[in-house]
Amino acid sequence: MEKLLNLISAKVSAAFEAAGYEASYGRVTVSNRPDLCEYQCNGALPAAKLYHKAPIQIAKEVAAKLEADPAFSEVRAALPGFLNLKLAPAFLAVYLEGMRTAERFGVEPDPRAGTVVVDYGGANVAKPLHIGHLRSAIIGESIKRIQYFFGNETVGDTHLGDWGLQMGLVIAALQDRQPELCYFDPGFTGPYPEEAPFTISDLEEIYPAASARSKTDEAFARRAHDATFELQQGRPGYYALWKHIMAVSKADLRKNYDKLGVRFEVWLGESDAQPYIPPMLEEMRQKGLLVESEGAQVIEVQEPTDTKEVPPCIIMKSDGATLYATTDLATIRQRMETWKPDRILYVVDKRQSLHFEQVFRAARKAALVKPETELRHIGYGTMNGKDGKPFKTRAGGVMRLETLINEITDFVRAKVEENNLVTGDDVADTTAKIALAALKYGDLMNAPTKDYIFDLDRFAAFEGNTGPYILYTIVRIKSILARYGAWEELPIAAPESPEAKDLMLALTRLPDALELAYRDCAPNAICAYVYELAGYANKFYHETRILAEEDKQKQQGYIALIGLTKRVLECCIELLGFEAPEKM
Ligand code: ARG
Repeated sequence: MEKLLNLISAKVSAAFEAAGYEASYGRVTVSNRPDLCEYQCNGALPAAKLYHKAPIQIAKEVAAKLEADPAFSEVRAALPGFLNLKLAPAFLAVYLEGMRTAERFGVEPDPRAGTVVVDYGGANVAKPLHIGHLRSAIIGESIKRIQYFFGNETVGDTHLGDWGLQMGLVIAALQDRQPELCYFDPGFTGPYPEEAPFTISDLEEIYPAASARSKTDEAFARRAHDATFELQQGRPGYYALWKHIMAVSKADLRKNYDKLGVRFEVWLGESDAQPYIPPMLEEMRQKGLLVESEGAQVIEVQEPTDTKEVPPCIIMKSDGATLYATTDLATIRQRMETWKPDRILYVVDKRQSLHFEQVFRAARKAALVKPETELRHIGYGTMNGKDGKPFKTRAGGVMRLETLINEITDFVRAKVEENNLVTGDDVADTTAKIALAALKYGDLMNAPTKDYIFDLDRFAAFEGNTGPYILYTIVRIKSILARYGAWEELPIAAPESPEAKDLMLALTRLPDALELAYRDCAPNAICAYVYELAGYANKFYHETRILAEEDKQKQQGYIALIGLTKRVLECCIELLGFEAPEKM
């Protein structure tokens, strides 16, 4: 569907032309003086300079041309030369009825839509999932859903950190605890047991202890290093252990991501990119891209236009070890072979921005992607505690994601029970949905790059700019609709009150909010929009006797309007990655 602003602009442009002026002056914007008008056009001001006329004169001539247009209920030329516009109620109703009956509310898909890989989550296997990975999961899931909404094929890949030193640390620590295990016996001929010799709780204890020990115990650190190396060379016992670590960790990650409403299409990781490394290196060598620098093999990525120094991308260390960047480059190769994406979006901590700059440049130099393939790092900021420092547990440690989710859930459950919002079996469902909305909205309402302060009281409040407030607005509408009966087919009617008109005008702004969120990979644009829309919906609700209205015709119009509002709000929160309960 054509956007409302474009429709109006076309009309005003035509009026400029009919009055003898350049059509391009007819660009209309949403009014910044809503007390005076709904839309405005300031084109007469610059036109005045060109045509050597008083701006108000031009505005008046254009207004005269628009007088007869049934789309407007008011066209006024105001000093010094503004055109102030109000839409005719019937015109607005027809437009919204178009939105109501169109697929995706008439929001046009991206004509250049293609295949998009979203790299998000990025958990490190064997290490507990912590807050640092929370933002990636929440923002990435939303961005992926927005990409899909605009017509792209989307592949969410969690890109597990599953090939690093943490594996060697766990293996070395296990060997100390249970040296008798067959995995450590070089003479063992298999098959290895199906059952892992540890649980997730064991792992959660083993890794931090081993990591701490490696910092003081040099011999242990060496062994962990060697174990990592041997694993990477394919030593069967270690590989079998690695498989166990993977299975146990993945099961736990899946459980956590499920609770967050985060679903990856694929669970590939660093390990899956390893087979792509040797041929890629060979190619880079043949192309003469690898240069030696202090014993290491690097790709120079500095460009003459750079104002800052961009250090070379290190591909291989002097001891032959490959690095994080090497794996990321090989992963690009793998993704291009598997999905031929038009775009790869990386939702990763903004502190890794230099890493991605280097990787993207190296990938282009090595022609791992087509020139038109978009590589984009969406760097996010830190979630801080109320002290303004990175969020910690009360004891000062790194908080596990599961603990955080449980804390929020307990907090919300207490509120749900205290206020008797729902009872019995509904408590668990309503609590979980409110908790998720509080957490996700509290994060997503900020631009991804911004650091923000985690504040449970604020995030979980039912009033103000919060997830629960949005849910509350939806649930309230749902309850009116349920009491009314069948509403789905009712057509939108002309607004009966200023509150109805404001709500309708807000609904027409949906495509702008979604397009902004899409273009800038900025779910916060959707948060800002739903908050505004919910505000108009609540004002309308307060000023209008909906269920008590005796004029059935009028009532139908009200119901159709809140029905559309509910659907739009639900669509938006689905793009943000949460949903409303039935009751609250
Ligand atoms: N595992 C990494 C970390 O914890 C994040 C991975 C991000 N994705 C990527 N392709 N490098 O920092």
